[in-house]
Amino acid sequence: MTERSAPGGQRLQKLMAAAGLCSRRQAETLIEAGRVTVNGRIASLGEQADPRRDTVLVDGRPLRQHEPPCYLLMHKPVGVVTTLSDPGGRPVITDLLRDVPVRVYPIGRLDLTTSGLLLLTNDGDLANRLAHPSHEVAKTYLVRVRGALTHEVIQRLEQGVELDDGLTAPAKVARVRNSGGHGWFELTIHEGRNRQVRRMCEALGLPVSRLMRIRYAFLTLEGLAPGQYRHLTPHEVARLKRL
Ligand code: URA
Repeated sequence: MTERSAPGGQRLQKLMAAAGLCSRRQAETLIEAGRVTVNGRIASLGEQADPRRDTVLVDGRPLRQHEPPCYLLMHKPVGVVTTLSDPGGRPVITDLLRDVPVRVYPIGRLDLTTSGLLLLTNDGDLANRLAHPSHEVAKTYLVRVRGALTHEVIQRLEQGVELDDGLTAPAKVARVRNSGGHGWFELTIHEGRNRQVRRMCEALGLPVSRLMRIRYAFLTLEGLAPGQYRHLTPHEVARLKRL
């Protein structure tokens, strides 16, 4: 038997996600950063552990198991970082949570200067599934750009924009309004690349001056001011799981 394949063992990143600590990808980053130990020894990527026999610590704290699942919908304000801690001391999304006894983490991310709908959960499996590109969850953004949105720009957004990481999938543009030197519109995309909306608009010569995510699949920000959040209903959770 090797350390990497204990009987009854599971990959560390799977255990960490199942314990609601983070997504599998985030777990890999934590392991690579040397922040995970198994039985007192710094873990390496690919390693397995048996949660019944092995002591797995992340940043010195045990994996909490069997926490009640928690699903939150937050209206993220501008100026708050979508991480659980920030070395620079900027406000982070978990600073906004009150009376949430479990550790939740965001599904995907929004830029510091983007506001809007952000889901948080401790359900690692659902988070992984929704964040996976193959799921193609529709996300709608309210976008304000400097400049006017022309018919040609709309066509290019809807056909796909060539970015340095490849052509984007066709987007949907709606409710276009040009006024005061700005273009406003709703953009629906299914991918989740880094800074995707900003990069798509910049590539077409229209810098984004405001960005807000207003819809995630069937969920909206209705009733939530910036900084507020609510628990998803069991019906909403079930619908998300069926996506
Ligand atoms: N696209 C962006 O450019 N930024 C976000 O925060 C979300 C989507």
